[in-house]
Amino acid sequence: MGLWSRKSITALQAEAGNESDGLKRTLGAMNLTLLGIGAIIGAGIFVLTGNAAANYAGPAVTISFVLAGLGCLFAGLCYAEFASMIPIAGSAYTYSYATMGEGVAWFIGWNLILEYLFAASTVAVGWSGYFSAFLAEVGLHIPASLASAPLGVADGHQIVRAFTCVDPGTGLTVIDPATRVAQVFADRVACTGAGHEVINGLINLPAVLLIIAITALLVRGVQESASFNNAMVIIKTSIVLLVIGFGFFYVNRANWEPFIPTNTGEWGKFGWSGVLRGASAVFFAYIGFDAVSTAAQEAKNPQRDLPIGMIASLLICTVLYILMALVMTGLTPYTALSVPHPVSVAISAAPSLRWLEYLVNIGAIAGLSSVVLVMLMGQPRIFFTMSRDGLLPPLFGRVHPKYRTPATSTVICGVIAMLIAAFFPVGLLGDLVSGGTLAAFATVCIGVLVLRKRSPELPRPFRTPLVPLVPLLGAGSTLGMMATLPGLTWGLLAVWTTIGSTVYVLYGRRNSTLGKAEARSAGTAGD
Ligand code: ALA
Repeated sequence: MGLWSRKSITALQAEAGNESDGLKRTLGAMNLTLLGIGAIIGAGIFVLTGNAAANYAGPAVTISFVLAGLGCLFAGLCYAEFASMIPIAGSAYTYSYATMGEGVAWFIGWNLILEYLFAASTVAVGWSGYFSAFLAEVGLHIPASLASAPLGVADGHQIVRAFTCVDPGTGLTVIDPATRVAQVFADRVACTGAGHEVINGLINLPAVLLIIAITALLVRGVQESASFNNAMVIIKTSIVLLVIGFGFFYVNRANWEPFIPTNTGEWGKFGWSGVLRGASAVFFAYIGFDAVSTAAQEAKNPQRDLPIGMIASLLICTVLYILMALVMTGLTPYTALSVPHPVSVAISAAPSLRWLEYLVNIGAIAGLSSVVLVMLMGQPRIFFTMSRDGLLPPLFGRVHPKYRTPATSTVICGVIAMLIAAFFPVGLLGDLVSGGTLAAFATVCIGVLVLRKRSPELPRPFRTPLVPLVPLLGAGSTLGMMATLPGLTWGLLAVWTTIGSTVYVLYGRRNSTLGKAEARSAGTAGD
């Protein structure tokens, strides 16, 4: 009972088939694959690759991408089995509810907030940086105080009143390549000492406006949102393909020598340990393919199309990432890539590719906006399912009478994401987002093993191949990547879990639909 209560698969399948008060089924395999790509290609490739190459792996960041991609592929194959069996919008939360009980499900649902809601805010802030830079190029300057949050994180762990630094040459906020957001210093002197000007951030307005626009679109309809996403995906993948296609002609092979730079003597600083550290750093770039499974109740043929959407988007992005990493480290020495805009830096090494720089900015703007869209689409759908299970208040489960979207939940998520992006220090969130996601991935992999053992007879429209090898490799690689996360991230994950457990004890446990049903049947049995 309680923590260990499991939802029956039959009940879940009945819920998935219940159309009367449900969401609108409009998405096919193509739209789902594009949603996956929409969520995947973003800050990871446009910002993080350079940092991982320059600080951890050198040109072998390509191998880091292969390793992280394999880990995600194993997890993706496990997700696909569940998604085809239980096509419910709750994704990993629902799968855990069916296999490991309400307590684990709540823990995963709570962690998915890190993956979706916090990722949306983090990427919106990254988008704001690119967008402001783009406007500056065409002569429109947003005052830096209106494009940065008043609070920031200094030295990786201190929350401070932000002294946001502005490059006096460009008038733009200085971005920290490690955290992908405005670089913040604990005092003015540190900022001016680095040759920058200091401004007092008030609000990150571009990020707020982006989130408002996307929230409105998501309320309006899933088909409308998917169409916008499709357009963004076409723009960003075309630009990535242009960089790869033209970039390969200008690669200087000398930049790939040595492909795995010698370790400096410190774990994670080049050599094979650097390749592994690089894999967990670039893992962020793969986050999002699982968001496809949150659209389960809006898919026309979920059993067939969800596995296609997840696996196809993951494979396409893995190939693009590997090629992109090869081109970037081939165009310029990897040591030059520790900048907020590594793709631009790489192509500027070949004078004949300068024309691409402008397009790369557009690619990043399109790429990051579709990531925010799909993340903000996933979160309300998970809340929707949790609310229908009684673990969250009923208003999260409301469906808009006309648009048939989880409108109330979408607006609540939009407002929270907006507040975080506008005012709070999101510098710490990158690793937290990865931590929450990795925990969910590992649980899904273990869940496949549990359910195969417990209910081998259930029909599985898609079967994870090579069980138990693939789930074991998936769980092992995701837990391995988790192990390399910094101690501070673990501390914050513990705080986050404590808050979640309190909410569960105070609300979820008392209101759980399953818990109430079990209590009723226990009462009847006792009569
Ligand atoms: N994978 C997404 C990105 O790289 C979260 O922005």
